[in-house]
Amino acid sequence: MDLDRSQATLQGKRLVLGVTGSIAAYKAVSLLRALTREGASVEVVMTQAATRFVTPLTFEVLSGKRVTTDLFEAHEEMRHLSIPERAHAIIVAPATANFLAKAAVGLADDLLSAMLLTAKCPLVIAPAMDGDMWMNPTVADHVRTLRARGAILLDPEEGPLASGQIAQGRLASESRIVEAVQTALIPQEDWKGQRVLVSAGPTQEAIDPVRFISNRSSGKMGYAIAEAARDRGADVVLVTGPTALAPPCGVKVVSVTTAKEMADALCRHFGSSTVVIMAAAVADFLPKEQAAQKLKKRGRTALSLELETAPDILAMLSAQRTSQVLVGFAAETEHLVSHAKDKLIGKGLDLIIANDVTREGAGFGSDDNAAVILSRTGQQKEFGLMPKRQLADEILTAVQNLRSAQHHSATAVE
Ligand code: CTP
Repeated sequence: MDLDRSQATLQGKRLVLGVTGSIAAYKAVSLLRALTREGASVEVVMTQAATRFVTPLTFEVLSGKRVTTDLFEAHEEMRHLSIPERAHAIIVAPATANFLAKAAVGLADDLLSAMLLTAKCPLVIAPAMDGDMWMNPTVADHVRTLRARGAILLDPEEGPLASGQIAQGRLASESRIVEAVQTALIPQEDWKGQRVLVSAGPTQEAIDPVRFISNRSSGKMGYAIAEAARDRGADVVLVTGPTALAPPCGVKVVSVTTAKEMADALCRHFGSSTVVIMAAAVADFLPKEQAAQKLKKRGRTALSLELETAPDILAMLSAQRTSQVLVGFAAETEHLVSHAKDKLIGKGLDLIIANDVTREGAGFGSDDNAAVILSRTGQQKEFGLMPKRQLADEILTAVQNLRSAQHHSATAVE
């Protein structure tokens, strides 16, 4: 999104700037000025270690506000509760490896980390540390945990570090941090006017009144897409099979159980949609007959079920489409790209998101996913392991790109 920088974009926003004990703490002084230049009112909270690098007085003078450094200072004001309560966003820059660890596991032994346990506002974290520390697997785990919980965590930049090493560990540039805060606080509207139909979760096909055939889909990917589209201004209908997830607010949720019900619900909303994203793991085979009563095991040593193929919903929608963009998923255990390409063409899709569901840390039930996005125009882009919500935004961006390419070629022909 292009942000309009001609005006103070953070006017009226109350921010907390958390500063932790890294040599990059001096850069937080300039960051504070940049945030106030954008119109924000900024309250600085420092860890004890941060005060070894920069004095609280520097921040106090520049912010015009008292700087808090101690959980027990002015405890009667309950500042660990009152500061986050009135904040629109918390920014921690620089964030040390120690801070990331405390935030990831929920330790609350200083004011800044205690505040995070009560904060409900967006959290932007900009780490800075030595290159080896950033690459350490424990630090990587904490980064993943925080991102999965919704924190906007900016990768540090590569360059010369205090140790003399040239590696990834430098605090993200001031403009990247300010832009992350703007993105978190200024609603994106790039999907406004779009009507997005998303399917999610598994289907359940009854064998008898107590048993069913289903699959391991958790619904997390489809829900993340629905939420991302909502946050970018779209009107969203989410058709979901049975999941353990809370219905996202601001989204019309249609709950279904079987593939047939899912097909009916999707067909009902298809005509009024502009984009359809099929993240559901729909049954491919259904029991040919459903027993009216519970199948008893007495007198049986084995049981054979006769299954028939289920109608392919995406192929069905593709056959009735007018101008909708159609996006499918390919859940594969081998030959990821070639199988996905076959589905992209076979089902008449615009985009397909290919998932290797056997990959550790990705796929069913996981908070993260890795994928290859393929388009009917031949583009192919690979995304490493990332939170499903982040991948959801990448998928929406890929749809946007395809739409604008379509628009350009249409106007070129006119
Ligand atoms: N899909 C569908 N209707 C079905 C089965 C799948 O619309 N009955 C959709 C899924 O939602 C997904 C895409 O088709 O977007 C591909 O699903 P996938 O399970 O990967 O592949 P299948 O088409 O079922 O083929 P196979 O099981 O042989 O891999």
